[in-house]
Amino acid sequence: MNVSDSERISTTLAKRGYEMTEDESSADVVIFNTCSVREKAEQKLYTRVGHIRHSDRPKPVVGVMGCVAQLEGETLFKKIEGVDFVLGTQAVGRVADAISRTLAHDLPVADLGDREANYDWTVADVYRHSPYIAFLPIIEGCNKFCTYCIVPFSRGRERSLLASEIVRQVRELRRGGVREVHLIGQNVNSYKPGDDSGLEGFEGRSPFSRLLRAVAATGIERIKFTTSFPRDFNDDIVEAIETNENLCNWVHLPVQSGSSKVLAAMKRGHTIEKYLAKIDRIKSSPKDIALTTDIIVGFPGETEEDFQQTVNMVDYCGFDSAYIFKYSPRPGTPAFTLADDVSPDEKTRRFLELEAVQKRNQANGLRRYLNKVLKVLVERPASRTEGGLTGHSTCHKLINFVCTSDMIGKIVDVKITEVKSNSLFGEIV
Ligand code: 5AD
Ligand code: SF4
Repeated sequence: MNVSDSERISTTLAKRGYEMTEDESSADVVIFNTCSVREKAEQKLYTRVGHIRHSDRPKPVVGVMGCVAQLEGETLFKKIEGVDFVLGTQAVGRVADAISRTLAHDLPVADLGDREANYDWTVADVYRHSPYIAFLPIIEGCNKFCTYCIVPFSRGRERSLLASEIVRQVRELRRGGVREVHLIGQNVNSYKPGDDSGLEGFEGRSPFSRLLRAVAATGIERIKFTTSFPRDFNDDIVEAIETNENLCNWVHLPVQSGSSKVLAAMKRGHTIEKYLAKIDRIKSSPKDIALTTDIIVGFPGETEEDFQQTVNMVDYCGFDSAYIFKYSPRPGTPAFTLADDVSPDEKTRRFLELEAVQKRNQANGLRRYLNKVLKVLVERPASRTEGGLTGHSTCHKLINFVCTSDMIGKIVDVKITEVKSNSLFGEIV
C-alpha cells in the first residue's frame, strides 16, 4: 500500500513540474511517506528530519505524509522541529499545493481532509516500481477494527472504487505494456462499490468475486490481489481463480493466531476451525494455490497453550511464507488499554520458535516446485548473480535464473533446479 501511495505522490508532483531525485542531499523537497502499523515510525522520522536539519546545506522543504501524518496531524510541528507540512492519507492529490503554500510561507500547512471526489488514481509509467507490474487500489480504509490495528484510524472508513473505473484502468495499463496487476486494499474481500457499473454480466456471490471475473475478462495476463480477510474470503473466490487462467494461484490470508480465544480478543470475526476450513478448500484446488499469511505473537493474554495452538496451526497449514510479528501496542487502538502482559523476552522466544517451525515447513513445502516449470515475469537483473535475472511466478515466488539474453518484461518458462529458503533458482527452458 505504501509503495503504491509513493508512486502516486511522485505522479501527482510530476504533473505539476517536479522532478524526482535518487539523491536526498540534492532535493529541494523531502517527503516522508510514513507507516505506523508496527514500527516506532515517529522516532525514525524524528531522527531523519533531525539529520536534514543539522546538515550544512540550505534546509529543503520537509513534508510528512502517510499514517503518522494522519494520526498526529499538527502536533507533529511541535514534536519534530523542521517539519513544514503534514498531509494525511487521503490528501495525496494536494501535495503540490502543500509545497506551494510552504514556499509562500502560508504556514502551518496541515491537510488531513478527505480525498477529492474526482481523484485521479492513475500512476505514471515512470513511477511504477516496474514498467510491467501495476498496483491498483480497489478499496481504501478498513471497517474491521481488529483490536490491535491502527489502520481503521489512520486510513479511515472503507471506500471502494467503481468497477467500471478499475476495468478501464486495467485496459489502459494493458495497452501500455503492463502484464501483471495487483488489486490492492487493506481488505479486498470487503469490496463494495456504490453501484454495479462495470460488474454487469459478471456472476459471483460477492462484489469482489464479480470484480475478479470482470478484471479477468480484460485479458490482462496476470492478476494478483491482496490482502484478504478470512471472514469475508469465500469459496467463490477460489472458484474464480480456478476458472480464469489469468487469476494467479496465490492467496495471502492473514490468520494472526491459531487460538480461537486470542482471535476473539483480536476481534477477527473468525474461529480457527473456520479458518482451517478455508485453507482446506484452497489446498484442495487443482491449481496448486500458494498460501501466505501474517501472524502476531504475544498478543495480550496469549498463554503458552494459545501459542502452541498457533504452532500447530502453522504445521497444519504449510504456508509458503509467513510474516511473523511481535505484538506492539499502538496508541488509540482498543488493545492499547489491555495489559501488554507477554514480556519482550517471551515475545522474542515465541517469535523465534514459530519462525523455526515456519522455516522448516517452508523448506519442505517449496520442494514441491523442484523440477517443475513455472511461468516467470522477468522484472530485473538479479543483484547477486552475474548474468542472473529475477522475477515472480504466478504463485508469487521470487525466482532467480541465469539467462544470456535480455528477457526483462517477458514471461518465460523456468525449470526450478534449486530451492532456497525464500526464493527458487532455476534455468530457462
Ligand atoms: N502489532 C504487531 N503486528 C501488527 N500488525 C498489525 N498491527 C500490529 C500490531 N499492533 C501486523 C498484522 C497485519 C500486518 C500487516 O501487520 O499481522 O496483518
Ligand atoms: Fe487492520 Fe483488521 Fe483492517 Fe486488516 S482487517 S487493516 S488487521 S483492522
